[in-house]
Amino acid sequence: MASDGVCDTPAVTAPTDLRPAVRRALDLSRRRGFVKSSRVETGRLLAALAASRSGTLGECGTGCGVGAAWLSSAAREGSTVVTAEVDADLADAVAELFADDPRVEVVHGDWTSLLERAPFSLLFLDVREAKTSGVETVAELLGPGGIVVLDDFTPCAAWPPVYDGRVDVTRQQWFTDDRFTTVEVMVASDAAVLIATRR
Ligand SMILES: C[S@@+](CC[C@H](N)C(=O)[O-])C[C@H]1O[C@@H](n2cnc3c(N)ncnc32)[C@H](O)[C@@H]1O
Repeated sequence: MASDGVCDTPAVTAPTDLRPAVRRALDLSRRRGFVKSSRVETGRLLAALAASRSGTLGECGTGCGVGAAWLSSAAREGSTVVTAEVDADLADAVAELFADDPRVEVVHGDWTSLLERAPFSLLFLDVREAKTSGVETVAELLGPGGIVVLDDFTPCAAWPPVYDGRVDVTRQQWFTDDRFTTVEVMVASDAAVLIATRR
C-alpha cells in the first residue's frame, strides 16, 4: 500500500503466460466476435485436470478452440484430445488452428457423435443441452473414474440449488445421480463449474 493510501499494485493486464495454442484460439475468438469462449480461469482448471489424466480427453462444443487448446496444452504424452462442434464453419476453422498438432482432432457433428470415441478420461461439457438433458449419454462417454467438467454455472450455496428464482434442476440432477460424485467449484467470484466423477 502506498503512503497516500492508494494501492500501488501494477494495473492488471491480460495474462502473459498463455500457451501459444490458447493465444491462437483466443485470437480466433476475437476475430470472429465469438463471445462464448471459455474464460481463462476455467481453462486453467481444465489444464490442471488434463495434466492428471491419460487416454482420450474430450470436449463437447468446440467453439473457437479455446477449451481444446487448454486441454492439449497440458495433455500428457500419449493422450489425445477430441472435440465436437456442430457448426461446420467453426469446426473447419479450429481444425486449421490445430493442423500442426496430431494429438487434437476436431469432429464436425453433434456432441453425441463422441460416443464412437469413448471412453474418455476427461470430458469438457460445453453444450447447453448436453448439460440439461445429456446425463445418460455422458455416463456412457466416461470410463470408470472418468471426470466431466460442466461449464457456465452461477455460484450457488443453497440446497436445493436455485437459479433465477427457481430450483436449478440441471444442477440438482448432477448432484443426485448415483452414477456420479459431483462437486461445484467456483472458478471466479461470478462463475462456477460442476465436476462430476463417474463411479
Ligand atoms: C460455449 S461454446 C463452446 C466454447 C468452447 N468450449 C471453449 O472452451 O471456448 C458452445 C459451442 O457448442 C456448439 N454446439 C451447440 N450445440 C451443439 C451440439 N449439439 N453438438 C456440438 N456442438 C454444439 C456451438 O456451436 C458453440 O460453438
